[in-house]
Amino acid sequence: MAQSESTIQVPNTWYDDVLFKPLYLEFYEHSDFANFGLWDEATTGPRQACENLVNRLQSLLRDQRGTILDVACGKGETTRCLLANYAPEAITAINISERQVEHGRTLVPGAVFRCMDAVNMDFADESFDNIICVEAAFHFDTREKFLREALRVLKPGGTLALSDILMTLEGERARPYRTEANYLPGIEAYRALIEGAGFTNVRIEDVTEQSWFPFFRYTVNFLHEKFLRRQIDEPTLKRHLGTNYGHVPDLEHYLIVSAQKPSTQSTN
Ligand SMILES: C[S@@+](CC[C@H](N)C(=O)[O-])C[C@H]1O[C@@H](n2cnc3c(N)ncnc32)[C@H](O)[C@@H]1O
Repeated sequence: MAQSESTIQVPNTWYDDVLFKPLYLEFYEHSDFANFGLWDEATTGPRQACENLVNRLQSLLRDQRGTILDVACGKGETTRCLLANYAPEAITAINISERQVEHGRTLVPGAVFRCMDAVNMDFADESFDNIICVEAAFHFDTREKFLREALRVLKPGGTLALSDILMTLEGERARPYRTEANYLPGIEAYRALIEGAGFTNVRIEDVTEQSWFPFFRYTVNFLHEKFLRRQIDEPTLKRHLGTNYGHVPDLEHYLIVSAQKPSTQSTN
């Protein structure tokens, strides 16, 4: 799909609709997360998996002092996890959707929530000590512009920690909430993009088998249980299964990434 207004509008409308639906809330065990999570043998469900993922990203920050920005914070549950290490007034969260931002404000009182596009941030240079971005950069138009913005608003030495998804070119083209402008042929291309944006100490871990695979298995089981108990009908079952089956041939890598802004670099 060519870049267009819909690159922003589609995720906005889709997430605003689906994230507030009862089935979605039940799946996420009445939390406000919206990601695949990070699973191990001890993980009991999506809520814990999502907490694991945010905790892993936080562990990659150079230190957990100063201020932090949560980019594409969804309904604010990833932001709430930051309270483990940060006072609310040290936390800023942004999302493209006013509805989600509004919800976030109720979840983390005292933190600053703003409706803002990740590729065009209304923050001064060197505003934040660290940035996290959970499972959203593939939506941005473009990921590269976001990386440059993240570098600009980070303080020297600050860390960007994110999780992100790489799809095949066909997968990028087929989905209205993704853009082929973000297509990357593999992990080394991802590294080159981040380094090209000016980051250093780039670390990339492929966690597809600890994230997407267990998420898929859990989702398929959850949906069939709902169907068996006649809590969802067959068209609903098939619609949701179809979305997940459709990801299988296209989703190539689920990545956990961290990168540092050079201590001495000027962003001007
Ligand atoms: C998969 S959800 C992740 C939400 C949250 N980080 C979490 O893990 O629960 C992706 C989020 O990206 C947001 N988003 C999409 N495009 C955006 C943009 N250009 N700027 C900021 N947020 C955006 C969507 O509204 C959605 O909340």
